[in-house]
Amino acid sequence: MRHLWHLRPSGTLILAIGVFTLLLFLLFTLQESPPTYEVREQPPETPKTLAGPTPPTPPARAPCHANTSVAAHPDFAGQPRQVQDFLLYKHCRDFPLLQDPPPSKCAQPVFLLLAIKSSPSNYERRELLRRTWGRERKVQGLQLRLLFLVGTASNPHEARKVNRLLELEAQTHGDILQWDFHDTFFNLTLKQVLFLQWQEVRCANTSFVLNGDDDVFAHTDNMVSYLQGHDPGHHLFVGQLIRNVGPIRVSWSKYYVPKMVTQNERYPPYCGGGGFLLSRFTADALRRAARVLDLFPIDDVFMGMCLELEGLKPASHSGIRTVGVHVPSQRLSSFDPCFYRDLLLVHRFLPYEMLLMWDALNRPNLTCGKQRQIH
Ligand SMILES: *[C@@H]1O[C@H](CO)[C@@H](O)[C@H](O)[C@H]1NC(C)=O
Ligand SMILES: *[C@@H]1O[C@H](CO)[C@@H](O)[C@H](O)[C@H]1NC(C)=O
Ligand SMILES: *[C@@H]1O[C@H](CO)[C@@H](O)[C@H](O)[C@H]1NC(C)=O
Ligand SMILES: *[C@@H]1O[C@H](CO)[C@@H](O)[C@H](O)[C@H]1NC(C)=O
Repeated sequence: MRHLWHLRPSGTLILAIGVFTLLLFLLFTLQESPPTYEVREQPPETPKTLAGPTPPTPPARAPCHANTSVAAHPDFAGQPRQVQDFLLYKHCRDFPLLQDPPPSKCAQPVFLLLAIKSSPSNYERRELLRRTWGRERKVQGLQLRLLFLVGTASNPHEARKVNRLLELEAQTHGDILQWDFHDTFFNLTLKQVLFLQWQEVRCANTSFVLNGDDDVFAHTDNMVSYLQGHDPGHHLFVGQLIRNVGPIRVSWSKYYVPKMVTQNERYPPYCGGGGFLLSRFTADALRRAARVLDLFPIDDVFMGMCLELEGLKPASHSGIRTVGVHVPSQRLSSFDPCFYRDLLLVHRFLPYEMLLMWDALNRPNLTCGKQRQIH
């Protein structure tokens, strides 16, 4: 967002008019469409039955209310905001779609579906992915499809801007899958679960899924080669395996999970959330498990919990490095395309680095074996 809205005065004026028009539009549509979270913040007109176990039922999608009985717990008041939000709303799992990709997305069988978690304002990252490793194409005759999984901004003013941005992107690229919930770190599990549910209905004929972040570099050509050796009807869940870790109990950490959320001191084995590959078989299993488990605020750990419940194991793939890259030798720079040539996925690339790397890897005359510089 920072860059996008740095516009010249004339641009700002046009934008202001645009936002104003959108506002008016929203004002009118809000009265007829299912309530959004903005409506939810007003006093509910129905009597409060907050702690009731019954989920909101169709036909009219009732807004999901905070479970205020959680706040009675003596430890609640001292928790950081994101933990409080998680506890208050974790039972809410049903959110309206704001952007839905066109049916053509999955009209043909999809070999590899790239389902990339992106924050609403990460426009530049999405653009780069569309131009580089995420480009929809056929690799060795097999269809690759791209989807960005997004929520919306917590701040209503920001939300109007990003929702309009995502609407534009959806119109242009048809690759936005957006739900009306706050796109926060502790809501990533919700995003993952809602994606799996969407996929079951709208993109069932997908052999494999790459679930990842928008700041990874994925060598999608290599991925297709690797996956061709696998049967989508069998279990596959690979990434960077993380074992023998448990909840971080220091409250300043981004990953802080208090005892109020889990008493357990161990996490099951899981794969780092930067990127992992799964088969259709495993997607079905995860969906089943997610239905019966309580949401857990850390999305990749939650996938581990789902696998464990289904009696399945995550596995390591040496080509997937979501937690820092160990450069094998002094002679290779960490940005050497020859180093990345055999990898499947590496975490933390800046948008311009993705472009450079993708270009370097696709040069027909890339020869490895001696030191090369691409910059
Ligand atoms: C609300 O919180 C209470 C206390 O933690 C819990 O027992 C109850 O099941 C929760 N209700 C819902 C709908 O999640
Ligand atoms: C998740 O999204 C819901 C709906 O927007 C919101 O009420 C809740 O606070 C969010 N949870 C967290 C942990 O941010
Ligand atoms: C999925 O696609 C394959 C290959 O074209 C086809 O044989 C199969 O019937 C399709 N399955 C479903 C459930 O659509
Ligand atoms: C490799 O190809 C690029 C353009 O595709 C060209 O500019 C460069 O000179 C070539 N390098 C070698 C060593 O052939």
